[in-house]
Amino acid sequence: MKILVTEPISEEGVGVLSKSAQVDVKLGLKHGELLKKIGQYDALIVRSETKVTSEVIEAGHKLQVVARAGIGVDNIDVEAATHKGIVVVNAPVSNTVSAAEHTVAMMLSLARHIPQAHTCLKGGTWTRSCFMGVELRNKTLGIVGLGNVGSEVARRVQGFKMRVVGYDPFISPEYVRNIGVEMVSLEELLKDSDFITLHLPLKSSTKGLIGAKELMMVKPCVRIVNCARGGLIDEEELLKALDDGRVAGAAMDVFIHEPCTDSVLLQSDKVIVTPHLGASTIEAQANVAVDIAEQVVAVLEGNPARYAVNAPLVPPEVFAMQGPFIKATLVLGRLVSQLVDGQMSSIDIGYEGDVGNQDTSALKAATLGGILEGTTEERVNLVNAGVIAQRRGLRVIEYRTPTCENYSSLVSVGVTASEGNTTVAGTVMRGEIHIVRINEYWLDLVHTPGYFLFIDHRDRPGLIGAVGMITGKGDVNISFMQLSRLEPRGRALMVLALDEPLKEEQRQEILALSDVHAVRMVQL
Ligand code: NAD
Ligand code: MLT
Repeated sequence: MKILVTEPISEEGVGVLSKSAQVDVKLGLKHGELLKKIGQYDALIVRSETKVTSEVIEAGHKLQVVARAGIGVDNIDVEAATHKGIVVVNAPVSNTVSAAEHTVAMMLSLARHIPQAHTCLKGGTWTRSCFMGVELRNKTLGIVGLGNVGSEVARRVQGFKMRVVGYDPFISPEYVRNIGVEMVSLEELLKDSDFITLHLPLKSSTKGLIGAKELMMVKPCVRIVNCARGGLIDEEELLKALDDGRVAGAAMDVFIHEPCTDSVLLQSDKVIVTPHLGASTIEAQANVAVDIAEQVVAVLEGNPARYAVNAPLVPPEVFAMQGPFIKATLVLGRLVSQLVDGQMSSIDIGYEGDVGNQDTSALKAATLGGILEGTTEERVNLVNAGVIAQRRGLRVIEYRTPTCENYSSLVSVGVTASEGNTTVAGTVMRGEIHIVRINEYWLDLVHTPGYFLFIDHRDRPGLIGAVGMITGKGDVNISFMQLSRLEPRGRALMVLALDEPLKEEQRQEILALSDVHAVRMVQL
């Protein structure tokens, strides 16, 4: 067996690998060189700089496993690997503490201008007046994303006597209280915080989370830290806010494009930076390297890996038996997570009719997978679904009813959240997934992957036409439309399937129509 390592990993990891295989550490390989060499190797180990593209995967004739020494697999074409049956593994928790400590270090450096003062004195100038700082004591820290790293940051800053507020809709209020954090909306967090730190993954739903609108809401002279992922903050807009004095300073460990030496933020003296060093400690690198080395060896020996990013949600034999309902519950989970408002606290999964007469653990895992997949880089599967929900303090209750009124089987997924409960239900007929209930509305939507617009409104003449005008003007094609109403001219739900996503300004235009109460775009 031969293993190729293309970025530095600690000796401890190389030691574990060397007991089972020949390990070639070849740092700084150009893409073309990697393509030429990869065909000889059974395993490839990278950090964030090596781009494991579909070409690399194609050229890796013997590859069984690609390992990412860290969390983010954004540099690996996971889909291509999955198609070729190559396992992708990562180390999602081994560098958590280091990332949290780096965040605190960045916050203190920002508050006290340490990098700027250091450069000034090393440059031969003794000056004190330019570097007046602020204390952390009695200040409010806003943490966006309270998963592994965000929670550790919260625990650490208690010692500084800060008030800590947080925003993370996918964690229960009890969990948050236990780590000393006051849960607030994103808007409240932006308005109240003296320091803001981001700890969430970069997904389509979180890209540009802090943009022009959010930066207009912040408390004047806020300081912002990003040790999570570049792209969560709009760099151009942040620079404008720094130049206008709305933001007093920013500390960035991560950038939209990495490696990065040309971000617009590098122009500002109010910005302090590190080159993605959050996980760069001896301890974290040893933990990460051993973690992934053990997994690579496990896969090469034919055993399962602890953190397989592309592990199937459920084993193939379970999928063969329950595939259609597994897919249906995944879709229902995705749908409910995008319709729910506020802080989640519990999830109810109901099985009515035939579907409840079998082992439902795969359906429960698929539901949780659908709800949580857009919120974390951790892969939810049959083995860890319950643990992931429990870690977030989310209560999961399953119930069964042997009969079902209108279908042979029906699965309902209800989420209880601070702003109310949301329930969706669906079934499988002739191999197709039908979404048949959204809260009190009964309808029949055949699931096809794509964009859906859900419009809560009061039924009245002309509204469907008005919505169509707006989508038409925006060149957004409607492929399907359905309306469910409680009574004529009463409360109603309009659902449109769209060939293209709706732009935010078009969504706002629909929301501004009279008798429209809420407009939500969902991607399924
Ligand atoms: P995690 O999955 O444990 O936590 C992410 C949290 O973000 C979850 O609790 C999730 O519910 C929350 N979240 C998702 N979408 C949200 C939204 N729209 N609004 C608010 N909260 C939302 O991940 P983690 O291990 O804590 O890592 C956090 C980030 O830090 C990841 O992007 C990771 O890649 C990055 N990271 C960077 C470094 C570094 O070297 N700079 C090191 C470790 C981790
Ligand atoms: C990660 O994804 O684990 C971090 O960003 C750290 C790293 O890439 O080393």
